[in-house]
This record gives sequence, C-alpha cells and structure tokens, in this order.
Amino acid sequence: MQPLSLPREPAAHSFVAQGAGASFVASLSVDRRLAAADVAGDLAHVAMLQAAGLLTRQEAKQVAAALRDCLSEIEAGTFPWDEALEDVHTNVEARVIALAGRAGEKLHAARSRNDQVVLDERLHLRLAIEGLLEAILPLQRALLRQAEAAGPAIVPGYTHLQRAQPILLAHALLAHLWRLSRDADRLYDAFLRVNVSPAGAGAVAGTSLPVDPQIPAALLGFDRAFANSVDATSDRDFLVETTGALALLAVHLSQLAEDLVLASTEEFGLASLADGGVAGSSFLPNKRNPDVPELVRGTAGGVIGDLLALLALLKGLPLGYSRDLQAGKASAFHAIDATSGALAAMADVVAGLRFQDRAAAIAPAESAALLVEYLVRKGVPHREAYETVKSHLPAIAASRDEPSALASLRAASRDFDEGAVALLRPSVAVAAVASPGGTGPEAVAHQLLEAEATLGRQSYHINLIAKKNRRISDLLSGEAGP
Ligand code: ARG
Repeated sequence: MQPLSLPREPAAHSFVAQGAGASFVASLSVDRRLAAADVAGDLAHVAMLQAAGLLTRQEAKQVAAALRDCLSEIEAGTFPWDEALEDVHTNVEARVIALAGRAGEKLHAARSRNDQVVLDERLHLRLAIEGLLEAILPLQRALLRQAEAAGPAIVPGYTHLQRAQPILLAHALLAHLWRLSRDADRLYDAFLRVNVSPAGAGAVAGTSLPVDPQIPAALLGFDRAFANSVDATSDRDFLVETTGALALLAVHLSQLAEDLVLASTEEFGLASLADGGVAGSSFLPNKRNPDVPELVRGTAGGVIGDLLALLALLKGLPLGYSRDLQAGKASAFHAIDATSGALAAMADVVAGLRFQDRAAAIAPAESAALLVEYLVRKGVPHREAYETVKSHLPAIAASRDEPSALASLRAASRDFDEGAVALLRPSVAVAAVASPGGTGPEAVAHQLLEAEATLGRQSYHINLIAKKNRRISDLLSGEAGP
C-alpha cells in the first residue's frame, strides 16, 4: 500500500555557502567552543517562542530534549559535526531538526544567526571571565604568601634599573599583586557590559513575531536585555573591552616574568626558580634557563596583537552585521587561552620561588635620599640638603666603619649625628620610611592586611558572577527552563 504522504525531506540549509568558497566562510573550527553557549541560548529561545505561542508546550519539550541530547553528544564527542554547515549554530540547529523533526524546524523563528552569535559570544565570555578571575587569585595568593614569608628581607629598589633605595622584598612582591588586582577589577567591570542579552534582536530590525526579549535575558542570568537591535547585533565592544583587559593583564604578567628572569640571573642573584619553572639546554649542561617566565613574557605580544586585530576589524564597519565580525572571535579566544595559561604557569613559578638574602650587598650610597631627609627634618632646605649629601656622598660611601662614616657625615653637615650613621644600614633605612604605602615595615604590614581584604573582595565579585552563570548551567541541565 502507498503511504498517505511521502516522507519529508529533512530541512535544507540553503543559506550556507556552497562550492569552493564554503570552507573559507566556515567558522566551525573556531566557534565549536561556543557549543554549550549555543545550546543554552537555544533553550532560552525555546522558552521565548513558547511564551509567544509559537511553540506548543509539547513542541517546546521536544525541542528542549533534542537540544540537551545535542549537548550530551557534544560532551561525549559523538556529535556529527559538519563543516559544510558553516558554524556551530547551524550544526546544532540541523541536529535538533534531525532529532525533533518538524518541531525542530520551528526553532529558528524570531531570530537570526546575527543575534545568535552575539548571544553565544556573550555567554561564553561570561564563563571565561569567571574562569579568568578564578585564575588570577592563585597567582595573587602565591605573591601574598611569598610576601608574608619574606618578613624583614630587603632587596634593592630600582628606578631606571639602577639601584635607588632599599625596599622590603614584601613591598616589591605586593606591587605585582596590586596590578593584578586592578586587572581583575577591569575584567569584572567588563563583565557588567558583557552581561547584556542580545536575544530577540533578530538580524537587524527585531521581529514581527510577538516575542519578549526579557524572557531569554532572565532565564540566562543576564542583567538586562539589549536596547537597540542594530547595536546589539553589530557591535563587538564587549570583546574589545575583555581583550583589552586581558592585554593589560598579559603586560603585567610579562613585567612580573621579566623581574623573575632578572632576579634569577647570577648578576642579580636575588631569587632562584624551582625546577618547574626552568628548562635545561640541549647543548650547555651548565644551563638552567627561566623558560616559563620567558614564555609568559612572550605571551603579551600575542595578546596585544589580539586587541589590535579586534580594533582594526571593527574600524570603519557600517551599521548592521557584517561577516567581518566572524573573525573577531578567534582573537578574543586566543587572548583568553593565552592569559589563562600564563596565569596558571606564573602561579606555580611564584609559589616555587626561593629568595636569597642580599641585604649585605646593598651599598650605603642607597641611603642617600634618607640622609637628605635627615637634614630636611632638622630644618635644612631640601635643595641645600640634596647638594650637601651629593657632594659628600663619595666620601660617606667609602667609609669603612661607623666612626669614619660619622666623620665623613659631620664633615658634610654638623646636623648629622649617630642617627644618620645608622641610616647607612639597609634595615634602618627601610625602617625609617614612615609614609603610608611606602616600604616601611608598618606600612607593609598594613598593606598585607589590605591585600588580604582585596582578595576577599575579588572573591565576592567571582561569587556574584558565578551566581549569574549558574543560570546557564541550570538551563543546560534541565534544572530550569523548558
Ligand atoms: N558564523 C557567523 C559569525 O560568526 C554567524 C553569523 C552569520 N550571519 C550571517 N548573516 N551570515 O559571525
């Protein structure tokens, strides 16, 4: 007997590029990593379609089940990826249609890949920012632990890479911690603008279908929905901001890396790296090279490049989606991967650092500024005190013991006495610094507490983000949504 109707052809995706150019326009190799975000966005979209009466409850359940099956297949590595379908969005949609049939064909109503890709990118970035903020903390904790362990240890403080004034080792280590803390703040700040939902913007104008963008926005844990569909689909400033924060983070990591490379040379002799941070030479059996810090230092170049690539991509684009935008993803992803890897590597390197006590190598001349201040405190005008110290410094610095130092100092000024002699000792010099935020032991002890509190604030920010991001995982797991 003849069937009543012929089996339907599966839905065609006639819009995907055909022929020789097909693999050039495909973005699957890059955007595959958006798969979970894509499925989450699809689930929220299903809820919006159902609320609009465009999917029945039954259809919504069916499509949602197909979407969650897709996710299982993706996670199990059995998903039938097809590059001919261009991107992750069309791959997932095609699979949903294969699994859910006609109901699946209703999925793409009231949306376009133009709003879909931004939705995926924003969801993915939310998770990535959470991960990056999590990854900054262990490095900061390693710096903080080293600073606490450093106690009264003193290192030369440099300007122009010339010895300037002795400082506490803890003070130097904490300088790097504060930079990273601002990097975390910048990422958190970027998150606030990343976390705006473009779902429901359509291709450029919105849609004539009665959908409510607040529904996917709320389900996915976005802070709000877009205000303008053209803006929502065509700007990528959120990628630039995040990548910009990462470029600066990578620069800060490169500076920390450089300090460690220098500190671990025989010439500086300030620190040694644990075995995990170094590599040998295939030719020179005597070598112990700081390969990990060097690679971290090199990472910054690529991430700065990512930021420049994004800015150059966006410059001059007309309003509305243009396919150029597809290329921006790779830059942001590379920036995320590169900085995550560098953060993890640096946390290990810093935790494994061992410092050498080099206070004895600090020259009396490095107390020069404090000698000037000694006179200033006695009422000598600063400029006069400066010239007095400067002209007598060679003699003061050459003194072999404290009595001769006192003689040289008193030859310079009758205002100098034993107190000034003591300043020539690095520990006294450091202890003499009294200004808040300076290297004096009291200020540094205060700084250690402040640093601890700042890490607490960063953790609080991570919790705020994690709470919003949990909406995404709840949707994927079926805890929430259709
Ligand atoms: N793969 C595309 C991208 O990453 C998705 C959007 C395509 N939109 C279009 N109208 N061709 O941007």
